[in-house]
Amino acid sequence: MFGYVLVTMLELVNSTNALSQQQTSLNQSYKNYFLIGTAINAPQILQKDLKAAAIITNDFNSLTPENIMKSEIIHPKWDEYDFTLADKMVEYAQTHQLKVNGHTLIWHSQLPAFMKYMQSADSVKNFFVNHIETVARRYDGKIFSWDVVNEALEENGTLRKSIFLDKLGPSYISEAFKLAQKASPNAELYYNDYNIEQPKKRAGAIAIIKDLQSKGIRIDGVGIQGHWRYNKIPFKEIEESIIEFSQLGVKVMFTELDLGVLPNPWDSDAADVNMKATYSAKMNPYMNALPDSVQDKFTEGYESLFKLFIKYKDKISRVTFWGVHDGQSWLNGWPIKGRTNYPLLFDRKYQPKEAYFKLIALTNTK
Ligand code: G3I
Repeated sequence: MFGYVLVTMLELVNSTNALSQQQTSLNQSYKNYFLIGTAINAPQILQKDLKAAAIITNDFNSLTPENIMKSEIIHPKWDEYDFTLADKMVEYAQTHQLKVNGHTLIWHSQLPAFMKYMQSADSVKNFFVNHIETVARRYDGKIFSWDVVNEALEENGTLRKSIFLDKLGPSYISEAFKLAQKASPNAELYYNDYNIEQPKKRAGAIAIIKDLQSKGIRIDGVGIQGHWRYNKIPFKEIEESIIEFSQLGVKVMFTELDLGVLPNPWDSDAADVNMKATYSAKMNPYMNALPDSVQDKFTEGYESLFKLFIKYKDKISRVTFWGVHDGQSWLNGWPIKGRTNYPLLFDRKYQPKEAYFKLIALTNTK
């Protein structure tokens, strides 16, 4: 008898969860404000993660490929491209009427192996031109937008030392936008970076945007990535950035949002994939569960952030989460491998967290 009651209660809880999920939708709630996106990985594109698929179509209206459009994957050999996964993603997005943001055409990281030993400026230039022309042209009219250049700035706002700066000079950024515009006239074109809400780096991003504008080259928007810590969200700098970027006449987006809850070895918000530290139990404090006190602060962090986004809804065109659920987040493996992080709105069991419902509730209060 007790067993039966228990089963029935569990069924009730499960069906209530399923029901509440069915009746609520993040993108529907925010439809008059801005697009709500998620980063999507290869298993999700290949329909091998059906629980995530249900969330993607219910809660998001925009997709960013987390990895599969990066040059090391889409352009593995000098004269060979591999569009298999990107084509599948575009097809998936068309079927479900989701907008795609291409990520990314020019990035110093995750370059194809053949670039490692490239010495001559001519070879880099050839790669650069062919890559942008081929990839951007293929998806013109099929994807909504491109992160044309990703992470070209150092923290102090100067241009990042990269193979592109080294071999092509500072004009590589405007060249990239010019080529993208020609190859994909129908896509919106963005500059995307982390920490550009911080004053020095923001000044660097503003200089990039102004340089493009002064040359008559189109740039439609700027993406602030938004890899922040749940208890150290830089609200003031975010607000200043929304205002200053939008004054330049470009759309503002939050493109890779997640709120990590784990200690950072350098007490920093940098999202440089090359930064690595060694594992220790002290750096992985929530292996089994997240304490309520942290969960509450995490919820508050998301709530305050979205209140700010709603305040500037006329200037913000998209907010994209960097992943669907905690289990897939890059923050479980960076900057220390093998940790358990909790940065997204859905947990490892694909259940929406309290923060999810709070964000929806924000749209019901006028
Ligand atoms: O595909 C291989 C797989 O074959 C292999 O078995 C496995 C072993 O580790 O690695 C797989 O590749 C990994 C790839 O993600 C796919 O999971 C790479 O090692 C790993 O470095 C890569 O990390 C990605 C990282 O960018 C570097 O490209 C993260 O998933 C992705 O979330 C992260 O995203 C970046 C944005 O593009 C730019 N802004 C910062 C953001 C976070 O770092």
